[in-house]
Amino acid sequence: MSSRVKKAIFPVGGLGTRFLPATKAMPKEMLPVVDKPLIQYAVEEAQAAGIEEFIFVTGRNKTTIEDHFDRSYELEDSLTARGKTEALEEVRRFMPSPGQVAYTRQMEPLGLGHAVWCARHLVGDEPFAVLLADDLIMAETPCLAQMVDVAAETKGNVVAVMDVPREQTNRYGILKVNGDPDGRRVEIGGLVEKPKPADAPSTLSVIGRYILMPDVFGHLERHETGAGGEIQLTDAMAKMIGNRPFHGLRFEGTRFDCGDKVGFLEANVAFALAHQDLGDDMRAVVRRLCA
Ligand code: G1P
Repeated sequence: MSSRVKKAIFPVGGLGTRFLPATKAMPKEMLPVVDKPLIQYAVEEAQAAGIEEFIFVTGRNKTTIEDHFDRSYELEDSLTARGKTEALEEVRRFMPSPGQVAYTRQMEPLGLGHAVWCARHLVGDEPFAVLLADDLIMAETPCLAQMVDVAAETKGNVVAVMDVPREQTNRYGILKVNGDPDGRRVEIGGLVEKPKPADAPSTLSVIGRYILMPDVFGHLERHETGAGGEIQLTDAMAKMIGNRPFHGLRFEGTRFDCGDKVGFLEANVAFALAHQDLGDDMRAVVRRLCA
């Protein structure tokens, strides 16, 4: 079994109901933050962490994602003809090479664990990453790259974690920590999906970045349902605790919850303010609007 993480799964089968009507005919992963769709941020983060194979688990209405990661000859021709070199470079820059991208359909919306399990044959017997495009992370060193370093050192599973307010534990996978709960890297002793605040073993929650050993597929295979009647990735991960090292990494960076309207809008403002060409204008706009 190769120990380097070369493959990443992007579950993109969700319906995006919170963003209707914007997501009626467009996948939520194609919603733009400034000038890039959410899914492109996730793919670029994976590329920066050394991922070479990109596996999308899709659903209905997701063909625009396939088109986005494909050459667009008409567009490239007309940009070339008009001498728009910068735009042309931007369109070509993030393109994976032929054969680096694979798509499989989830067919039924049975949960995140099920979506990941749908990619089992494409992953095979090697460690892999999972990136949820809804969780957008602004960081100097991309979050997944920080995690790859930890996985290389510990030779085990790694999830990105952050502290959340106790009243929000019912939105996340929550950790039970073994040993020191305050370090950058914490040892995971238990995982619970979306516990009520009163039942949560901590307020340290899993954010949508995972590096997992292929053993997880054996647990997902059983199709046991958990919180919300769904096949949960968290439950399958919980079964791996104790067999191999399993760590949570308090990553360096800022996470935006783009599955939520306010979080998505906040991400747009934050990325626009940090944008090389737009930052100054945007600062003036925000000041004016808040005056
Ligand atoms: C999923 C996972 C949850 C995790 C969260 C991170 O939940 O099931 O464990 O904490 O992503 O964003 P979802 O947001 O899809 O309901």
